[in-house]
Amino acid sequence: MAKQKVTIIGAGNVGATTAQRIFDKGYADVVLIDILEGIPQGKSLDILESGPVVGSDSKIIGDNNYESSKNSDVIVITAGIARKPGMSRDDLLLTNMKIVGEVTKNVCSYSPNAILIVVSNPLDAMVQHAHKISKFPKQRVLGMAGILDTARFKSFLADELNVSVNSISAYVLGGHGDTMVPVIKSTTVGGVPISDLIPSKRLEEIVQRTRDGGAEIVGFLKTGSAYYAPSASIVQMVESILFDKKEILPCAAFLEGEYDINGLFVGVPIKIGKSGVEEIVTIELSSSEQKALKNSADSVKELTEIMYKND
Ligand code: APR
Repeated sequence: MAKQKVTIIGAGNVGATTAQRIFDKGYADVVLIDILEGIPQGKSLDILESGPVVGSDSKIIGDNNYESSKNSDVIVITAGIARKPGMSRDDLLLTNMKIVGEVTKNVCSYSPNAILIVVSNPLDAMVQHAHKISKFPKQRVLGMAGILDTARFKSFLADELNVSVNSISAYVLGGHGDTMVPVIKSTTVGGVPISDLIPSKRLEEIVQRTRDGGAEIVGFLKTGSAYYAPSASIVQMVESILFDKKEILPCAAFLEGEYDINGLFVGVPIKIGKSGVEEIVTIELSSSEQKALKNSADSVKELTEIMYKND
């Protein structure tokens, strides 16, 4: 039986690492596309040649054209420029809007039934734009950010409390930026509310480190932004789709009234399966968290207004 097919646009740090992670597991064939000649071909060949060692029989090819992506089950868009020190994700807006628009048009024409995962930043605005350009139904377009922000939050909490990351239950919602909303009310460690375990001042510091998590990495790397945790987060979404796992994960999804937000992509818990967004899950928020989520949605709205001011 033919394996399912995942196409990744952008063979840079995030795209190539995602390709490698999926290839290593061997459950899907991978197509890696980039505008730079030779880069997707060279990286794909290198990954392919690791097959006998890691035990993967997946196929992986690199290309500068989109035809090889035909009939993909899942498309991941990572094309664009990444942040340099001192840049916010929003500084990337108009450059990445152009890139994401162009690649979405190309890739979706070859795979009209695929599920589209957008990763390029600023995430919430880029997924909004990809949705518009693809003309795909809202269920088949989603953005990766909440899993990453949540993973950062959980990593810091696990470190603070010296417990396994697997014992922590948490969600970071909202836009992928300074206004993201770690939901303290539903954060538990082994079922115990986090506010019983960490004093509120220290918790606030951990929340702030989570908000600055991307910038902390950019500060170290200097020439680019994070890609190991982002690619792991993408793969969790891809697997929930390909294996119809129906995991409930925080992702950017198009809201039409849920959480009192309308017509915008914002990070919320969703049930993710073979049809994409199968349900938007409503969790209880405190009134300050609800306010923070609304505030986060307003910042996403501001970016979409900049993108479409000449429409
Ligand atoms: N078509 C295809 N690929 C493109 C295009 C395009 N029009 N424009 C740029 N690219 C490619 C670049 O050639 C590069 O190989 O996108 C790739 C981006 O890779 P990196 O610069 O390594 O950036 P990366 O760290 O992978 O981040 C990609 O994900 O997390 C976000 O903020 C990040 O928006 C950024 C994106």
